[in-house]
Amino acid sequence: MIPPQEIIRRKRDGGALTTGDIAEFVAGLSSGAITEGQVAAFAMAVFFRGMNRDECVALTDAMTASGAVLDWSSAGLHGPVLDKHSTGGVGDNVSLMLAPMIAAVGGFVPMISGRGLGHTGGTLDKLESIAGYNATPDARLFRDVVRTVGCAIIGQTADLAPADRRFYAIRDVTATVESIPLITASILSKKRAAGLDGLVMDVKAGSGAFMNDPAEARALARNIVDVANGAGLSTNALVTDMNEPLASAAGNALEVANAIEFLTGAHRDPRLYEATLALGCELMTLGGLAATRVEAREGLSRALDSGVAAEKFARMVHALGGPADILERADRLPRAPVERVVTVETGGYLAGVDTRAIGLVVLSLGGGRARADAAIDHAVGLSGFARIGDEMPVGSILCRVHARDEDAAMIATRAIRAACHVAPEPPPARPVVIEHVGRF
Ligand code: URA
Repeated sequence: MIPPQEIIRRKRDGGALTTGDIAEFVAGLSSGAITEGQVAAFAMAVFFRGMNRDECVALTDAMTASGAVLDWSSAGLHGPVLDKHSTGGVGDNVSLMLAPMIAAVGGFVPMISGRGLGHTGGTLDKLESIAGYNATPDARLFRDVVRTVGCAIIGQTADLAPADRRFYAIRDVTATVESIPLITASILSKKRAAGLDGLVMDVKAGSGAFMNDPAEARALARNIVDVANGAGLSTNALVTDMNEPLASAAGNALEVANAIEFLTGAHRDPRLYEATLALGCELMTLGGLAATRVEAREGLSRALDSGVAAEKFARMVHALGGPADILERADRLPRAPVERVVTVETGGYLAGVDTRAIGLVVLSLGGGRARADAAIDHAVGLSGFARIGDEMPVGSILCRVHARDEDAAMIATRAIRAACHVAPEPPPARPVVIEHVGRF
């Protein structure tokens, strides 16, 4: 056995670790034999020294093997097992539509999602704004819903990649989260434990993303694609723009209402539509559900326009304890008592949005959490957010604020005005998909 301090020293001094070193370290991480101080020192050594591809694959493999790995081979699924993962943004409710869309075109989506933390929203919090929705079903119900409906979106279970849970908690408090190899192994260990055949990563870049700089987002996307494929999980990534909220709504119940409008065709935000379809095309081609992206796009559009994707969403919600009539009764989602419009004080064009600040407005309204165990208010948030490039005469509406009380609405209004830049000229158009990374 190699003492953990030797493994830390080797990495600290810039050496490459062997698969055996890494397996041993992860075994100690899981069993608790390696102390919190040693885990933190290891994380900091990797933060500064990095990891080569083989080390990163070995870390992913070892963390995947630290717990259960779902096996869908006996579930009788007649299609590929697929999933999408996003690095997080504001108004990013893609999962709510994409999972049922993929189910509608013949894929199976066992989506294990997280809660929001910081300025970004979490899919689980959004779904929990639906009365009765059980985001932590037992393994049997989860499996049954994936098998019979085609998709189930649930929370992280204790038995999947437990080594990552301990490692991430220590990284979170030791300023070692922002390391490409550690993020890569963390995300992929959980995804591989879900037993997927294919994964698409949505790596966000911009003012509302965890990585502002597209070059950094691209480097993360490249590493994830290489390591995932190296570890046997067929993966592509898209680097997508997060310089404005993706949906026109931000906040839990408001994003669910927006997703229902999207699925039923009542309203579809154009950038959200582009991102969702682009990610869906990757999954369909990775999973062999379409030969080309053009064919995939046609299939996804049909799934939406025929109402099949909406029906899949409704069936998933009902099977997991929510109401049977969610599509017809979105008005029963929680509603905040105070609703105010935020108007533009100087006319022009919406030229820029500090999207992180917008995410923090939702957080300060009570729609997000500053600590992982804090409660959230599902009803609050923003809706009808204007798009960058929109002409905004004086008095036109930037967005609506949904708040618990007048004071909160007033504070939010000020912060939103400060976060939105109105200019005399429209800014150049920005594509939603900045780059494809993977096999194309
Ligand atoms: N999300 C994860 O799951 N892990 C990381 O390390 C960062 C983001």
